[in-house]
Order: sequence, then C-alpha cells, then structure tokens
Amino acid sequence: MSVLVTGGTGYIGSHVCVELLNAGRDIVVIDNFSNSSPKVLERITEITKKEPKFYEADILDEAALDKIFSENKIDSVIHLAGLKAVGESVQKPLEYYENNVTGSLHLFCAMRKAGVYNMVFSSSACVYGIPKRVPIVETDPLHTINPYGGTKLTIERILEDLAVSDSKWHISLLRYFNPIGAHESGLIGEDPNGIPNNLLPYVAQVAVGRLPYLNVFGNDYDTVDGTGVRDYIHVVDLAKGHLKALDKVEKTPGCSAYNLGTGTGYSVLQIVAAFEKASGKKVAYQIAPRRAGDAATCYADPSKAAKELGWKAEFGIEKMCEDLWNFTQKNPNGIR
Ligand code: WQD
Repeated sequence: MSVLVTGGTGYIGSHVCVELLNAGRDIVVIDNFSNSSPKVLERITEITKKEPKFYEADILDEAALDKIFSENKIDSVIHLAGLKAVGESVQKPLEYYENNVTGSLHLFCAMRKAGVYNMVFSSSACVYGIPKRVPIVETDPLHTINPYGGTKLTIERILEDLAVSDSKWHISLLRYFNPIGAHESGLIGEDPNGIPNNLLPYVAQVAVGRLPYLNVFGNDYDTVDGTGVRDYIHVVDLAKGHLKALDKVEKTPGCSAYNLGTGTGYSVLQIVAAFEKASGKKVAYQIAPRRAGDAATCYADPSKAAKELGWKAEFGIEKMCEDLWNFTQKNPNGIR
C-alpha cells in the first residue's frame, strides 16, 4: 500500500519523501511545480536510490486526483501542497483560498470516493496568529491575521468536521513552527522563488553574496535583544514528525493537532550570529521598521507530540545553520 504525498517536491515535501523512502515506504508524489522543479525529484532519487511514482498535476484537477487513486493502492495521504507566502497571500487572497482550500476539498472528496481516510495535514503555527502567551499549546486560541493563515485554519476546521461526521477519518494536523535547514547531503533544501520572504533563506543569500544585507524587521520588541523570537526547527526533524503522525493515523480515529517545534526560541540577531559561526561568513544587516503582522515572540510547547506521537526534535540551531550553509554552498543559485 502506498502513501500519497501532495506537494512532494517542495521544501518540506521533498524532505518528507526522503524520510518515507528511507523508512521503506512506497510513495506516490503529486506536484504542479509551482514552487519547485523536476530536478528535486532527481535529488530525492540520488539521496534514497529510489524513484517515487510521480504525477505532475494540480490538486485543483479533480480528474487527475481520481486517476491517481484509481491507478495506485493508496491508504494514506500526507497533504503538503499549497501556496505559502504570507505577504503574497495578503495581495492575492482569492488565489490562496482557491488553491489551498478548494484544492484541499477536491483532494478530500477524491479520498472519500476511493475509500482513503488516513490524512496527515501540513498546517502552521500561524493558526495561532499573534499568540496570547508562550510557549504555545494546541488548545490555545486560534485566530489568523493573514489569508495564508486563514486557509490553513479553514482546512483544519474542514478536517475536524470530517472526523466528527465519520469515524473512518483518521487525521493529524501538524502545526509547523519555523522550518529551516536542509538535508545533510546538501542536495535538497529551501529554494524560494525570487527574493526570500523568510529569515534563513535571506540570511543564506546574504552570506553567499546573492543579496547585499539583511533587513532586521524591528529591534524594539520586548525580547532578549529587541528582535523577533521564533521557534526554528530542522526540516529533517519536521519530516520525521510526519512519519510519526502517519503511524498514528494508520491506527487511530479522530482528528488531533500537534505543535511541531523545538520549544526553544531564538531572536533574529541570535540566528545571524549562529549562521555566521556555522558559515564563517559575515552577514551584513541593518535595522529596518517592524514588519506588519509580526509577533514579538512565538515558540511551541511540543509536549503533546512527544507524548502522543513519540516525536521530539533532535537537532540544535548549530546543525540547522551548518546544514543550510552546506546546501547553500552546493546550490548558490538554488536547485532550479
Ligand atoms: C522570522 C523572524 C521576522 C525576514 C513565517 C510564516 C509561517 C511559516 C514560517 C509557513 C521574524 C524576521 C524575517 C527578514 C527579518 N511559514 N525577519 N528580516 O514570519 O515567523 O513565519 O514562516 O507555514 O506561517 O508566517 O518567519 O522567517 O518570515 O520571520 O528580520 O528579511 O525573522 O520579523 O521575527 P515567520 P520569517
């Protein structure tokens, strides 16, 4: 029986595929390459020596989804496909709701038609919006402050309603904190289109000389050094969390949410210092105004995932920065 991975050539998806293949799982991958490239598939094969079955398709294409389920014996789905740029979502809310929510609805309908009810969903810590307190637990209030977060929370609610409607649905909602780093081979990693929105790919591009300096969005927050604090988690730790969640949904009914974070927060300037140490490169920066919608501090209480999934992040910030620098040096202009 196979696991269908939607968005399997993306940053998180490619690392999830590597871990699944290395664990001996059979996988089928669907991706429309909107934020990745066919080269990532070659890299997954280079790492694992296995060639996953692949469909270049969009989750909005209902016929393509039905074809995939009819041609393969799929018993679980790990759903990562989706648009994920927060800033872009503010400019293009309709595109985000259509792609992320309507696309997910088509996927869930295709699953039900095929009798497939095990689902691991790629959610995000942004469903907590500006957190009321830290560390964040799964029962804390959910509210979103941008359309991207709105799509993730909407899809969570759809999945919760599905689980209530029919006990055949077995669902885990994985709320990612800040995934960074890359596979230790340096063959796959974060490869954003255009100017990076997120901190670490931006820092890496400054270090490798593609960008002149980092803008630090505010240094007047109530934090250790005035800059924003986040819970950065190694993307391989995050990927392994998906395999633990898959084990759980294969035998447990219902719908449960899990924070996938380390439980430790680092500030922007602490990250810059850690990356400089890992790379041996200076990262020039200047203090810029705060970015709208940013929280001062956001980090997880990951104890529920430890207790119920038997999962805990293992890698520290040094390894995250070392692996990101290794990927950056091997792919100074990205993978595309
Ligand atoms: C981290 C910190 C910025 C860029 C986002 C999404 C979230 C998830 C992870 C998908 C903040 C500061 C950043 C820069 C900076 N993605 N920063 N200069 O906003 O915590 O989370 O990515 O699920 O949903 O919201 O991540 O990397 O953008 O910012 O100073 O050029 O770095 O202010 O404090 P964020 P980020």
